This record gives sequence, structure tokens and C-alpha cells, in this order.
Amino acid sequence: MIEITNLVKKYHSKEKLVTAVDNVSLTVAKGEIFGIVGYSGAGKSSLLRCINLLERPSSGSVKVNGQELTGVPERELRKARVKMGMIFQHFNLISSKTIGENIGFALKAAHYPKKKRKARVNELLQMVGLSDKKDAYPSQLSGGQKQRVGIARSLANEPSVLLCDEATSALDPSTTKSILALLKKINRELGITVILITHEMEVVKEICDRMAIMQDGKIVEQGSVYDIFADPKNELTREFTSSILQFDIPDQALEKVEGTLVKVQFKGTTAGEGVISDMLKQYAVQGNFLHGKIEYIQEIPLGIFVLELKGDPVEIKRAIEYIEERTKQVEVLKGVA
Ligand SMILES: Nc1ncnc2c1ncn2[C@@H]1O[C@H](COP(=O)(O)OP(=O)(O)OP(=O)(O)O)[C@@H](O)[C@H]1O
Ligand SMILES: [Mg+2]
Repeated sequence: MIEITNLVKKYHSKEKLVTAVDNVSLTVAKGEIFGIVGYSGAGKSSLLRCINLLERPSSGSVKVNGQELTGVPERELRKARVKMGMIFQHFNLISSKTIGENIGFALKAAHYPKKKRKARVNELLQMVGLSDKKDAYPSQLSGGQKQRVGIARSLANEPSVLLCDEATSALDPSTTKSILALLKKINRELGITVILITHEMEVVKEICDRMAIMQDGKIVEQGSVYDIFADPKNELTREFTSSILQFDIPDQALEKVEGTLVKVQFKGTTAGEGVISDMLKQYAVQGNFLHGKIEYIQEIPLGIFVLELKGDPVEIKRAIEYIEERTKQVEVLKGVA
């Protein structure tokens, strides 16, 4: 439902030309939660702002629900924009208006029927769990509550798409989780497509279905979140996934390793198959776990274990081959295989 093709966004400032979005193509399906990850300056916000044409792309195409938005006159664009809600890191609430008025303002701006506005505000406040804050002012709210208002406001005009620019970056981890849960609820219950920009892989891991990684205006990798975590191809992607999957084994522990050190990755159902215990039964080797964890990504397990194998080298070699056959993901970190 969102189709971006060969999108380019260049900024001309006094001395130089910046290509913030460099030939990006991507498709986001209806009802999907799509994450875009990248470091500061990668071009994430520029890309997002091109989707609702807050920024005019320099070239390329942006289609939303089948409508080509580039080249559309401003008046029509305003109509299309109403159907794309947006939330920001710093909430952008009007400090002199109450919470109810802040949401009502978005309805008024989109010419929502006056008679129905009050009921709609109440409905939205209930949806985000803030019914008791209707008459409070933004300064009286916590960061998480302010973002709930931001979300309520973005949903006011029944959008089909929600664009989130670092929506949780100003929040602590537990508040972040509650906001992500709310976004997921909105996505599932209202069928709203969500595009979410973040520099935190934790956020992507928590709620996204698919993702793209951006660097220097380009998308360097995209795919399902599980596949990207399980098998990242690009170097930058690996850097991002390692923030969740990596673990450091202390040097002292590594120095004590006399046998062969292997890292084994389990995907999906193999995580529960007891591959290691089967291997230990079948081969004359001893196994000693140095590290291990199982992450659940999109509710599918992804396990990584580091273990030392000791015993006859021929048996170790066979044992590794056995694990390789069943998991396809073994790496010898130290010693001979
Ligand atoms: N209005 C502008 N005029 C000139 N250059 C701009 C403008 N907006 C962004 N840029 C430049 O475009 C590049 C991409 O910026 P953008 O804000 O899209 O990155 P970002 O990935 O969102 O970064 P951050 O994570 O810091 O928000 C940067 O080099 C930035 O300096
Ligand atoms: Mg940005």
C-alpha cells in the first residue's frame, strides 16, 4: 500500500548539496509494522517526510493506497496527509491547550464535523488510556503520557498510515515498552500500517514485522526482522543486530579454554530440539557452556550458544559436523575443528 520507487531527496544549502535520500525503493504492505534503522544523519527523517510529502522529493515516486503523491497539488495533498498520522520524539503538543483541546485541534484542522468532535476526543483518550487527563495541560504530564497524547492526536482523523519518527527515543526503557505495546495494539485493532524510524534495534525487535537499514541515504539491507537478526548480510546490519545478540566472554574465561570453542546459532524450531544434548550423547566429547541466550523475535526463538568441546579431535570434528547438519550455523571461534 506504500510504494516508494527510486526516491531521491537533495537539499541545496549555501555551500553544498546534500543527498539525504539516495535512490530508495521499498514497499510496505497494508497492516504491516515496518522499521527503518540507521545512525544519525542516515536520512531516515528525510525519507519519512517524503512519504507524506512534508518534503518534496527531488525525484522518484511515492504511492500511498494506489495514489501517486508526487506532483499532486498542495490542496489535494492536504487531504492525503490527513490520512497519514505522524508522531515525533518531542511530542509537539501545544502547551497552552489542554490535552482534550490538543486532540480537538487536530480534528478541527481537518474539518471533522463539529458536533462529533467531543465524542471523538473522548474515544481517542480512552484508546490511549488517558481519559482522566482530558483537562490537564501538557506540562502536567510525564513523557510517556505526552506521547500517548501525540498518538491520540495522530489517530484523530482515522488515518490508514502512522509515521513515527523516533517516537520512543526520549523515553526510558519501560515507558518505551508501554508505548510500543500501544502502537502494536493500534496496528492490530485498527489495521493501521505503521512506519517507524529508530536507532534502537530493541524497538524493531519488539514490534516490527519487516525492516530496512539506512546508511548515507541508501537502504543497505531490508527484509523480515527475524531473517535480518538471524542472518545479517551487511556489515552495518551486523553492527546493529549485535547490539541485541552479542555477548562478551571475559578474557579470563577465554584463556582457560583448552578445547575447541564453537558458537552455535539455533533458528526457529531447532531451538527446542535438544541438538546439543543429542550430540553429547552420540559423540565422545565433553561440552561446557560459556554463554548462551535465546531471544524471541516476532515470537520465534533465536538462540546463540558458545560452548567448549573437549575430547578426541576426531570426535570433536564429527560432533561439529553433526551440529552443522542440524543447525546450519556453527562457527569455530578457537581451536581446531
Ligand atoms: N532541511 C535541510 N536542509 C539541509 N540539509 C538537511 C535538511 N534536513 C536534513 N538535512 C541533511 O540531510 C541528511 C539526512 O538528515 P536526516 O534528518 O534525514 O537524518 P536522520 O537519519 O533522520 O538523522 P537523526 O537520526 O539524527 O534524526 C543530513 O546530512 C542532514 O544534515
Ligand atoms: Mg531524524
